[in-house]
Amino acid sequence: MPQVSLTNVKKIYSGEVLAVDNFSIEIEHGEFTVILGPSGCGKSTTLRMVAGLEEVTSGEIYIGDKLVNDVPSKDRNIAMVFQNYALYPHMTVYENMAFGLKLRKYPKNEINKRVNDAAEILSLKRLLKRRPKELSGGEKQRVAVGRAIVRKPLVFLFDEPLSNLDAKLRVQMRIELNKLHKRLQSTMIYVTHDQIEAMTLGERIVVMKDGQIQQIADPHTLYNKPVNKFVAGFIGTPPMNFLNGKIIKKDSKFYFDSGSLKVRIVDDMVAYIKDYLWKEIVFGIRPEDIYDKLFVSEAPPENIVHVNVDVVEPMGSEVYLYLNSGDSSFIAKVAGQEQVEPGQDLEVVFDMSRIHFFDKDTEKAII
Ligand SMILES: Nc1ncnc2c1ncn2[C@@H]1O[C@H](COP(=O)(O)OP(=O)(O)O)[C@@H](O)[C@H]1O
Ligand SMILES: [Mg+2]
Repeated sequence: MPQVSLTNVKKIYSGEVLAVDNFSIEIEHGEFTVILGPSGCGKSTTLRMVAGLEEVTSGEIYIGDKLVNDVPSKDRNIAMVFQNYALYPHMTVYENMAFGLKLRKYPKNEINKRVNDAAEILSLKRLLKRRPKELSGGEKQRVAVGRAIVRKPLVFLFDEPLSNLDAKLRVQMRIELNKLHKRLQSTMIYVTHDQIEAMTLGERIVVMKDGQIQQIADPHTLYNKPVNKFVAGFIGTPPMNFLNGKIIKKDSKFYFDSGSLKVRIVDDMVAYIKDYLWKEIVFGIRPEDIYDKLFVSEAPPENIVHVNVDVVEPMGSEVYLYLNSGDSSFIAKVAGQEQVEPGQDLEVVFDMSRIHFFDKDTEKAII
């Protein structure tokens, strides 16, 4: 039996805003699921419906074997961690963590044990007597997580818990959450708009757009086999390049032709795009699948594209090259030691075994 299941869950706010539509998923015990999508796509609404903080317009939510649609939040056996950790300012770290258990009338020694265990796991032991204003952002966030841990919930719910932290701390907390999940082996549902956070934390990622699930998959599948143009463009930095053009055939070979550039389609892919011959199509290639020809031994001539370098963005370990080929513009991600100047002409190689095609109208992936 899944630990959490949502079936055709829908949320309409005040009779008109369709925030979540037809959301269905089964989450197994111990799974780390991330809900990922741009701001306003319905992530928090979904999580809040699981938490019981928001009513469901239609559909069913189960936690364990229990239909919880009408179960109050406090009886759902969940714990939620928010972006603004909302600690009680006048209470110490210890009291903040103990508060929920006290309310629920847990015996004192049990509270003491749980708070100390959580403090141990989160390296908060030496901070137990401090008040929130004496803590750093990362420490406050750890206390907020501690407050959830002491409850020993069936399911942890996180709503963008790291957004208030600076970049370095976010990375550190991400690693801590990863370890925490391994240690507790609990079911966790984590909401974020940050694709890196999603890819690094999620065993499964639910990509949402406009209230609807686009794809549910593990990080590897999302990156390599996005189901549509939205997912393809949302996962990966810099995002996938999209070029409009046509499939053409010459001397029994198939090509993608954008008007300003033409590349040969590998034989393995031809079967998938045959129906698009002479028709418009969207071509997708990730920046990391475009190489400087200088560094490719034996590049097939039909995969070489002549470009002019527009902008060079050094990122340290790699460089982003903004390239133009006639009317087509795209980005290549190359090794940091490459010496490329704006304005220079360059030959790049498209790795045609790693390209994608999308239907121009439906935006669904063809391959
Ligand atoms: N209480 C509310 N009343 C009306 N509309 C809301 C309310 N909360 C959220 N919305 C709308 O529902 C949509 C989804 O919001 P939300 O779930 O907060 O998105 P996310 O967390 O992905 O940024 C948005 O269009 C938002 O404006
Ligand atoms: Mg939100």
